[in-house]
Amino acid sequence: MISVLDPSLFLVYPMLHLMLRLHKDFDDARVNAFVCDLTVDDLIPHISPSSVDVVTMIFVLSAVSPDKMSLMLQNIKKVLKKDGCVLFRDYATGDLAQRAFYFSDEFLVNLFNENGFDAEEHILCFKQVENRQGVGDE
Ligand SMILES: C[S@@+](CC[C@H](N)C(=O)[O-])C[C@H]1O[C@@H](n2cnc3c(N)ncnc32)[C@H](O)[C@@H]1O
Repeated sequence: MISVLDPSLFLVYPMLHLMLRLHKDFDDARVNAFVCDLTVDDLIPHISPSSVDVVTMIFVLSAVSPDKMSLMLQNIKKVLKKDGCVLFRDYATGDLAQRAFYFSDEFLVNLFNENGFDAEEHILCFKQVENRQGVGDE
């Protein structure tokens, strides 16, 4: 999670948090880093309510079970400013990886709407993977 003026970063794994803090360039005064399971722990003790401009969720929502996705979004909503936004990227149905949760457009928009967000823009990014090694080249 990154807020433009007061960067905050939550990490779900305590070991990563430790590694970050041990880094020679880590500066407590510049980054608010803490361990947090967003489906369980409240963000409010770490981040003031309605104070965050931008939340990035890059392949994060697919890492939790669908029945906990709403809890995660409600937790984020509490710290987001009224005009703040969530920048989201994740797997879409039909994705080749097939190892995590796959979002359909409809499911994703409903999920955000049901948790008090307006989906301003949602784009399905389509990439074709081509095997350039022709038959007989093997
Ligand atoms: C697939 S990784 C994506 C990491 C990074 N955003 C990227 O694109 O490389 C999924 C991330 O979701 C976060 N995550 C998963 N479950 C979480 C939870 N319950 N609370 C907070 N963060 C969680 C973890 O920090 C984990 O690193």
